[in-house]
Amino acid sequence: MSALTIAYALLFYAATGILVFGVGWRCWVYARTPQPLKIPIPPAPTTRGGVALRMLLEVTLFRTLFRSNKWIWLFGWTFHAALLLVLLRHLRYFTEPVWFWVDLVQPFGLYAAFAMLAGLGGLWARRFLVDRVRYITSPSDHLMLALLAAIAASGLAMKYVAHTDIVALKAFFLGLMAFDWRPLPADPVLLAHLALVAALMIVFPVSKLLHAPGVFFSPSFNQVDDARERRHTAGWSAQIVRGR
Ligand code: HEM
Repeated sequence: MSALTIAYALLFYAATGILVFGVGWRCWVYARTPQPLKIPIPPAPTTRGGVALRMLLEVTLFRTLFRSNKWIWLFGWTFHAALLLVLLRHLRYFTEPVWFWVDLVQPFGLYAAFAMLAGLGGLWARRFLVDRVRYITSPSDHLMLALLAAIAASGLAMKYVAHTDIVALKAFFLGLMAFDWRPLPADPVLLAHLALVAALMIVFPVSKLLHAPGVFFSPSFNQVDDARERRHTAGWSAQIVRGR
């Protein structure tokens, strides 16, 4: 077993642990944070089913972003939809036999790689070209965009420029999941792609990318607009009511 294989195997175990426990811990903190006030963005649903529908439209269509800014919506939605297809396409490296719908997704996942880069390019350009946005842009905003763009670019480079041994790569990842390690191909572009992916997994729980799970905990989206029907008690307000 080469030192390279051992290093990447350990790297991916660590990155997976950090991602899973980090995001799980963050969600636990979000879930326990009191929501003392009723603050759903109006017009808001008055039933729980309505809230579920609102959340569904928000996370699939980015509805509020669409209403507020069509350009950011176009680039943002394109990037996220493309990322989803790319990730679904990648499932073939982690499943044996490959599920039939993962086979069907393959060509779309490839086009999506270009759409993903285009979306990222638009979102990044805005951080340079729009004065108001440039003013509030921090280095970490650039870092996240750079990381995602570099992952997509190295992935496309493997597809079109410097091929790797996908059969051996798949054996490596299936082996990792079964704790039966197999050698990792030592192609530089693959090693770069994987190191960037591991970096993304590691920074995810301490980055702005937490907006993905975070949206589900946002009181302005997940609250029912029933303040006139029931008394809202949460966190300190619940303690005050109990203490009376
Ligand atoms: C451990 C996880 C990953 C592995 C093993 C992996 C592996 C690969 C391989 C082997 C390719 C080349 C495909 C080909 O030649 O047909 C590729 C392409 C690509 N990867 Fe990854 N990748 C991983 C994670 C990611 C992630 C998290 C992203 C996005 C954030 C990503 C984005 C891309 C893109 C955009 C392409 C080009 C399009 C394509 O061929 O699907 N990869 N990846």
